[in-house]
Amino acid sequence: MSLKRTRQGILFGGDYNPDQWSPEVWQEDVRLFKEAGINSVTLGVFAWSRLEPEPGRYDFSWMDELMGLLHDNGISVILATPTAAPPAWLCRLYPDVLPVDARGARYGYGSRRHYCPNSPNYRRHAREITTRLAERYGRHPAVSYWHVDNEYGGPACYCDRCVEAFRTWLRQRYGTLERLNEAWYAAFWSQRYQKWEEIDAPRLTPAYHNPGQTLDWRRFMSDSFLQCYLEQRQILRELSPDVPVTTNFMAWFNGLDYHAWAPHLDIVSWDSYPPTGADPAETAARHDLMRGLKGGRMPFLLMEQSPSQVNWMEYNRPQRPGEMRLRSWQAVAHGADAVCFFQLRQSQGGAEKFHAAVIGHDGSSRSRVFREVAQVGTELGRMGGLVAGSEYRAEVAILFSWPNWWTIEQEPRISQGLHYIREVMRYYRALWRHHFEVDVVSPEAELFRYRMVVAPLMRIVTPSLQKRLEEYVRAGGALLATFHSGLTDENDRVHLGGYPGLLRGLCGVWVEEFDVLPPGQLTTVSVREPYAMLAGEYKAELWCDVIHPEGARVLATFGADYYAGMPALTEHLVGKGRVIYVGTALEPKGVYDLVGWLASVQGVRPVLGAPEGVEVVRRWHPAGPDGQQPSQAEPVLFLLNHNPSPASVLLERDYVDLLTGEPCRGELALPSREVRVLRPI
Ligand code: GAL
Repeated sequence: MSLKRTRQGILFGGDYNPDQWSPEVWQEDVRLFKEAGINSVTLGVFAWSRLEPEPGRYDFSWMDELMGLLHDNGISVILATPTAAPPAWLCRLYPDVLPVDARGARYGYGSRRHYCPNSPNYRRHAREITTRLAERYGRHPAVSYWHVDNEYGGPACYCDRCVEAFRTWLRQRYGTLERLNEAWYAAFWSQRYQKWEEIDAPRLTPAYHNPGQTLDWRRFMSDSFLQCYLEQRQILRELSPDVPVTTNFMAWFNGLDYHAWAPHLDIVSWDSYPPTGADPAETAARHDLMRGLKGGRMPFLLMEQSPSQVNWMEYNRPQRPGEMRLRSWQAVAHGADAVCFFQLRQSQGGAEKFHAAVIGHDGSSRSRVFREVAQVGTELGRMGGLVAGSEYRAEVAILFSWPNWWTIEQEPRISQGLHYIREVMRYYRALWRHHFEVDVVSPEAELFRYRMVVAPLMRIVTPSLQKRLEEYVRAGGALLATFHSGLTDENDRVHLGGYPGLLRGLCGVWVEEFDVLPPGQLTTVSVREPYAMLAGEYKAELWCDVIHPEGARVLATFGADYYAGMPALTEHLVGKGRVIYVGTALEPKGVYDLVGWLASVQGVRPVLGAPEGVEVVRRWHPAGPDGQQPSQAEPVLFLLNHNPSPASVLLERDYVDLLTGEPCRGELALPSREVRVLRPI
């Protein structure tokens, strides 16, 4: 459904809050939108008190007018349900709408996201406003997508109702208290429960929480917000069956398990806010994570990004000239079929008045930011139709899991230096620098289509994951596993019988114990025999596994401490495939060489030889329906120069630059922050 829509072109626009402005301003906005090439606006995200000023009294007149105005001007609408900002009357009428924090204090209203996901009063009113909106606009020709709520996920609520709902959730999961006590290892610190009523939320406690309980609590909170979403989705499905439904995610956001959510979204959308000058690999990884929620190939929507500075960082610097354009194209290159901003018109008051907007406080099209937006609008309008709906095809996967993140960073940690995302990025960045295309996917994802799977810190391994990884490797895949893997089950109980637990046989190593290195303390890792790309000595930090090979061969050894000379890196051949085990956190060059070597063994090639900091990725058009020939067998190639200096790339064949219409061959110059979108000819 969504692909059909997005093939019409790339959506370009963003959050628009006309309820803050008079109708004369709306006319001017539409004129400016058209000047900027804006073809989509996201409407109503926080408009609840305007749409329903009093309980049961609705005012859609302003929205009716706007929907007509936008539609008449060829601008489509991503219509939001306004449920992320409950109005004051609702919070006063039903105080249980407001969430409670871990100390038992109730939050106030007058901001946003102030609702308890398990409040029946909140849920009923959210359903009601959603129904009204869907009845009124569900078949309106301007509506392209439903945008449910806004950035679901917080704050977690610890009210009595949530605790009751938690108990019900646990009963469904475990059936009996005996099973729950076992899953939570409740024999520890006298935590055995005799009655369901005894179970509480992991509130403020004097010492550490039970890790099993916390893990389940996080799953439960994620599910509670999911229920809010599903209720609205159900209504939208019924009353507006042709309009795809989404909600905007936040990439590496810790509060929800997006893998559990993704099947319920027709298309993934997300909000990207890299700081000015951010490492482009960080942004690329987030796109690949968000695209990976639906398996990796299908496009997503960039629902929000800032046209320049934000207002919530410590130092809110404007994006440099060309930076926003480069990031917009980076999103498209990684699979975005929409490039949207927060916000289209800068508010005069309120908490976000100094957050950049397409139309700034000057109200004109003369600003640097507006002109850059208009440039992107023109470019997307010119060639977005050639890209929208096309796929991303990666040969390398990184496995990422939210429960894994929750357990790794649950206190007490083995090392305060252990950060899951940082370790994932250690590998992602190396792959990115090689110009390999990567999907960041769930451990549950289909693995056979990848030539290489990197699984940093895969602490939670279930028997089914163990089996799937083994099948993958036996069939010829390459698995790169690291320290802190295979240790625990889905309740964070250790797999007995030696580390890395369920991965011991597959990795062909026994990790007897592990050492952690305080910040600044390094060790060395020496490669035994030189391999194609692995040679000499590397530095390493953070962690050292004390490894005994059990069938694996030793690639490199530690150079220091009581485990000097013992393995740091091993390779285990299993069936037609191989498992690399990395018992430490290698310096960037080490990871770069290691993944480069493994990729070459597995036949993974970079998209193109390109200098450091030049990103090269492709999008492919899928085969047409009924086995017709692919509409475009050759991929579109994106070259993005993230460097502050010019670069050049040697093209191996002839292309046409879709942005300029000019043919390109041989050496192609790329000024700093320049973008080329090439199609082979
Ligand atoms: C997003 C949010 C927007 C706006 C923006 C500011 O997280 O969805 O409503 O607040 O941040 O950067």
